[in-house]
Amino acid sequence: MNSMFELHNLLPAIINIAKEYLGVKRISLMLIEDEYLKMYAHAGFEVDHSSVHIRLGDGIAGKVAKTGIEVMSNKTDTENDVLGYQTSSFMSVPLKKGDKILGVLNLTDKEDDFFTEDDVKIARYIASQCALGVDRFNMYSDMRKSENLRVIGTLNSAIAHDIKNLLNIVQSYLELMALEKDIKPEMQEYIDAIHSEVKRIHGLTMDILDFSRQRVSISIETFRISELFDEIRKHANIMTRDTDIHVDVKVLDDIIMKVDRGKIFRVIFNLVSNAIDALPGTGTVRLTAGKDGDICVIKVRDTGKGICSENIKKLFLPFFTSGKTKGTGLGLAIVKMIVEAHCGTIDVDSEEGVYTEFTVRIPFNYESFKELHRQG
Ligand SMILES: Nc1ncnc2c1ncn2[C@@H]1O[C@H](COP(=O)(O)OP(=O)(O)OP(=O)(O)O)[C@@H](O)[C@H]1O
Ligand SMILES: [Mg+2]
Repeated sequence: MNSMFELHNLLPAIINIAKEYLGVKRISLMLIEDEYLKMYAHAGFEVDHSSVHIRLGDGIAGKVAKTGIEVMSNKTDTENDVLGYQTSSFMSVPLKKGDKILGVLNLTDKEDDFFTEDDVKIARYIASQCALGVDRFNMYSDMRKSENLRVIGTLNSAIAHDIKNLLNIVQSYLELMALEKDIKPEMQEYIDAIHSEVKRIHGLTMDILDFSRQRVSISIETFRISELFDEIRKHANIMTRDTDIHVDVKVLDDIIMKVDRGKIFRVIFNLVSNAIDALPGTGTVRLTAGKDGDICVIKVRDTGKGICSENIKKLFLPFFTSGKTKGTGLGLAIVKMIVEAHCGTIDVDSEEGVYTEFTVRIPFNYESFKELHRQG
């Protein structure tokens, strides 16, 4: 069994054979989906019951699905109501794979009015074969899903990798252009703008690359935090050029960092970009860096729209975006991945309509921090 198509054919075929073999008037096979038992195949009913679904625990079938305990009754005096039919005998057997209950096989009205012990054994065997089929099908679906995800991941990585290399070339040409003498000031402005946008695309590409790999590789560089902040300031100034947004960058302690410079740049750049996006064209973004023991504390605070408590919970989930037309919702998910890969933490504090402040805490000497914590 390796397709939905085969499962759709196989189960009705099994229950039709079972109906004939056991000599029952009606038979149905229901599978568990979320909190419900849903009709999968049935035979012997005058009306179509394909859309029937029963909450787990309700009715005989619902109880069998919940408890996994089979029910068999040969009642000739009192009649039972099953799906609107008065039945004199019925049997409901769970479909099990190990301890897991997958569904229920229901048989009603034995032609000669009662089920024997042999009938119960046969029904159990049929239910076990159906369960085997369903389980194989589920396994196959899971395999296909993870295989698809793997292929998409590889494809993403390949594309992101090529884009990154092409952007490096564009960036080199921009740097060559900037070396030219006698560049008109407005031309310099255009070059700066292209530079900034290329940097953004580069960052986004790297984000996708890290995200599809689901791991962050760290390559350590030594640099001063003031020097990284200067670069951020330059980009932020270009991004806010035609606005009344003031970007205030303050280095409280000029720490010597030994971390992945490119990745920490992306963390701060993502947070500053979000802060700028949260402002209605006017307001302040304040970026600070200070020292707390062996930790570098970076804060990005804005006087923007703030974040409601409902959204705060979802902030770091991949693909969560709100109030933006072009947001991918990957920014903060990746920020968190990078910070945690550096043994750091990220926290957010916000008041709707007043401010938002993100605090990133990372050890400024990643390797010695890791070494220290390995020993102690
Ligand atoms: N400083 C902030 N002020 C207000 N809301 C914010 C702030 N930072 C993030 N958010 C909210 O969190 C959401 C998720 O941010 P995230 O950076 O993950 O994705 P995004 O900015 O929407 O898209 P992108 O992937 O392009 O960064 C944003 O859409 C925004 O609603
Ligand atoms: Mg963002």
